[in-house]
Amino acid sequence: MLSQLVYVSNRKPSCTQEEIDKILSSCKKNNPALNITGVLLYSDTKFIQLVEGDAKVIMQLYDKIKLDSRHSNTMMISYGPIKDKAFPSWHMGTKKLTTDTIDFTTDITSDDKVIFDKILTGKEENGQRVLSLLKKFF
Ligand SMILES: Cc1cc2nc3c(=O)[nH]c(=O)nc-3n(C[C@H](O)[C@H](O)[C@H](O)COP(=O)(O)O)c2cc1C
Repeated sequence: MLSQLVYVSNRKPSCTQEEIDKILSSCKKNNPALNITGVLLYSDTKFIQLVEGDAKVIMQLYDKIKLDSRHSNTMMISYGPIKDKAFPSWHMGTKKLTTDTIDFTTDITSDDKVIFDKILTGKEENGQRVLSLLKKFF
């Protein structure tokens, strides 16, 4: 069953840009064969990742990602079946988040900022709201 999972986690200080590049290489190498698509947003201190694909496959991937020592405190914020993929052409679209990106690059309203802060602290539980906000970054 086609499903989608979103989680947030804390990027460890030891997770340098070089490590992020390695994560992206893993995505590029592994995700296409698994038919996994999604997006990965990261700031200096956080990751937000949305993965979509077969329910069993994304759960197996999430179980693996959770154990990755480059981050901690993975917190699932939404998970469930979907009809269509939201990011069908991204085997892992990536965006680096800076205050500037959040304030200016995207057309983000103050309501969205509240939702965004809730996502980052794991308090946003409405999958639809999370998805529509993530879409604004791509
Ligand atoms: C925030 C984060 C997101 C990740 N996302 C993926 C992913 O989408 N696909 C993937 O294969 N590995 C991902 N990884 C890396 C895995 O935890 C793991 O290191 C990798 O899959 C190992 O595979 P490899 O040895 O084939 O490179 C992610 C790691 C982190 C910290």
